[in-house]
Amino acid sequence: MSIMIVIGGSSSPKLSASLANELGATLAKTDIKRFPDGEGYVRVLDPLDGQDVVLVSNTYPDEKMIETLLLCDAIEEFEYKRFTLVIPYFGYSRQDKQFNPGEPISARAMVRALEVYPDMVLTVDIHADSTIEWFETCDAKNVSGHLEIANKLKEIGVDFIVSPDEGRIRTAEKVSKDVGVPCDYLVKDRIDGNIVRMEPKSIDVSGKRVAIVDDIISTGGTIIKASNELKKLGAASVIAACTHGLFANNALDRLGMCCDNVISSDTIENQTTVFSVAPAIAREIA
Ligand code: R5P
Repeated sequence: MSIMIVIGGSSSPKLSASLANELGATLAKTDIKRFPDGEGYVRVLDPLDGQDVVLVSNTYPDEKMIETLLLCDAIEEFEYKRFTLVIPYFGYSRQDKQFNPGEPISARAMVRALEVYPDMVLTVDIHADSTIEWFETCDAKNVSGHLEIANKLKEIGVDFIVSPDEGRIRTAEKVSKDVGVPCDYLVKDRIDGNIVRMEPKSIDVSGKRVAIVDDIISTGGTIIKASNELKKLGAASVIAACTHGLFANNALDRLGMCCDNVISSDTIENQTTVFSVAPAIAREIA
């Protein structure tokens, strides 16, 4: 059996440590810093020759994409055995197609920059599965964190799972099955990056502890509208649960006014991070 070593980018240090622990691997020492002019510098301080190397690094925000590329290039200089790139939060997957002429397919641009380095890429709860299909020169797979979300929700105690739109119903269904409670979805209409409309829908959540499960919370617009809808329908409490907590534009302050609790995973570490997707990633690698 070969030796495994995990390298953590600066975007997910806790997740990298948890993953190393799950895999029984060493966590590599690195030096990651910025030059005075803002350019990034990375250095892997442990030898990687002959080892199975796992790099955990996000493509969000933009500076972490550069860091990911630099770490990949640093790894390339070693005689490693196999290189797996874990991208816990794959930024730009929401622009997985041209919505208007003249736009890039941003997810494809990310893939093309990254795919030259690793043997395998693993993403976690990627927004658009179609992004995985852009990888041509290496293997790629998305890992689902539904079991980890479900375990946390079971611990907290919920009676009902809601997907904020029809597009994420499959994840909500998996979580609801794992928790052992029913689920349904709301009907969302996104006007632009900031404005979301939620169509009224009759769901029997009266007196129930409801969890809204989504992949990403960015501005919080989706969850705020969904939570207001569920409270109107008589929900006793509403928890917002997501894999990737971006919380743009002080979203947490606004979410605090309509949700009883907000929880997220460690793909992007923040104050709502209460569960780890490390076991889901480890199940795929081990
Ligand atoms: C969209 O389809 C995603 O699944 C999320 O619902 C969305 O990215 C959340 O964005 P926001 O928090 O800005 O409404």
